[in-house]
Amino acid sequence: KTPDSWLPRDPRLIRLTGVHPFNVEAPLTDLFNEGFLTSPELFYVRNHGYVPNCEDEDVLNWEFSIEGMVEHPIAMTLRDLLDQYEQRTYPITLVCAGNRRKEQNIVRKTKGFSWGAAGVSTALFTGVPLGELIHRAKPKRGARYLCMEGADKLPNGCYGTSVKLNWATDPNKGMMLAHAMNGEMLRPDHGKPLRVVIPGQIGGRSVKWLKRIVITSEPSDNWYHIYDNRVLPTMVSPEEAANNSTWWKDERYAIYDLSTNSAIAQPAHDQQLCLVGSEPVYRVRGYAYGGGGRRVTRVEITLDKGKTWRLANIDYAEDRYREARRQNLCGGVLDLWDHEASFCWCFWNLDISLEELGQSSDIFVRAMDESMNIQPRDMYWSVLGMMNNPWYRVTITKEN
Ligand code: MTE
Repeated sequence: KTPDSWLPRDPRLIRLTGVHPFNVEAPLTDLFNEGFLTSPELFYVRNHGYVPNCEDEDVLNWEFSIEGMVEHPIAMTLRDLLDQYEQRTYPITLVCAGNRRKEQNIVRKTKGFSWGAAGVSTALFTGVPLGELIHRAKPKRGARYLCMEGADKLPNGCYGTSVKLNWATDPNKGMMLAHAMNGEMLRPDHGKPLRVVIPGQIGGRSVKWLKRIVITSEPSDNWYHIYDNRVLPTMVSPEEAANNSTWWKDERYAIYDLSTNSAIAQPAHDQQLCLVGSEPVYRVRGYAYGGGGRRVTRVEITLDKGKTWRLANIDYAEDRYREARRQNLCGGVLDLWDHEASFCWCFWNLDISLEELGQSSDIFVRAMDESMNIQPRDMYWSVLGMMNNPWYRVTITKEN
């Protein structure tokens, strides 16, 4: 038993770090079959320690502050936030920087645990654009960073990190303080009662159980900002990283925008395909996402290890929501970005003839975004095993 083991958790979730801390992903097929929106039950969880407890009756009294290099420091409760600001609801995909790390660990063990390809989930997040609070606090001259701290008590202090201050005040970046997910109060594992949500960036920047925002001239000096969520140069070994802290102190290696990525959900790994059937084709399906609000512009499949490629069909979550809103299907609660940013994953599919599948040994997928960031053929290994995004492969297993 752990202090948070009383929390109801879905038995379908796959535990990646034993009993504690609670780090889970859904089986990829289950996640994918839920559609664009992930239910809170199957939403991936990345916790560094125990979940801070906030009883339902204390939710509105949750206190948080904005301080540091500001003219008007703010100390408020969640009740104040709800009373004083208009609430907005946006569909946003969160992704752990460790998504797909398992493939890296197979090549060479990293310091991180083995995420499959389901360290990614999407929800409608409700809250307040962070920029509105920052404008009210009025940063002083020389302020450049926005440091965030959570309420979790960890071996190296609370969980904290920072992003550039001008991102927080840029409405195109979509940063928000969220208190609800898919129309319900945040679940404890996802930051109840208040979290930061930074769309298009690695999940590690979206601090849960938010207590404090500090505006500074330098990046966060929180232990988790420095020793987590970094892609060190590939030649830095675990031993070198452990003995030489200068690698970690170099902010250039901190990661923010997600890298372009995709995965095949159908067929699943080890799924046996029946290649004789009444249907002459098999539909290969999966997801893709871009970073920094950049839209995925193409998804390509190869059956011959990259010699030739074919174009998959893409279904964009944003288009679905635009259509739902046009038809007034979402009760007026759903906002969409005024700009063309793409902060959701997309789903893709391609029909392949059974005959061709029968002649191939594997299926690879790669995606490209609007800035032509394309998934590489080769893996970039690094000591923390983050941002893994080479072509995603599923071996074809034929039914006897
Ligand atoms: N915030 C706090 N306070 N503590 C944490 O352990 N984990 C971070 C981020 N925010 C973390 C946190 C990481 S690494 C990720 S990927 C996301 O939360 C995961 O959010 P989720 O568990 O809601 O999916």
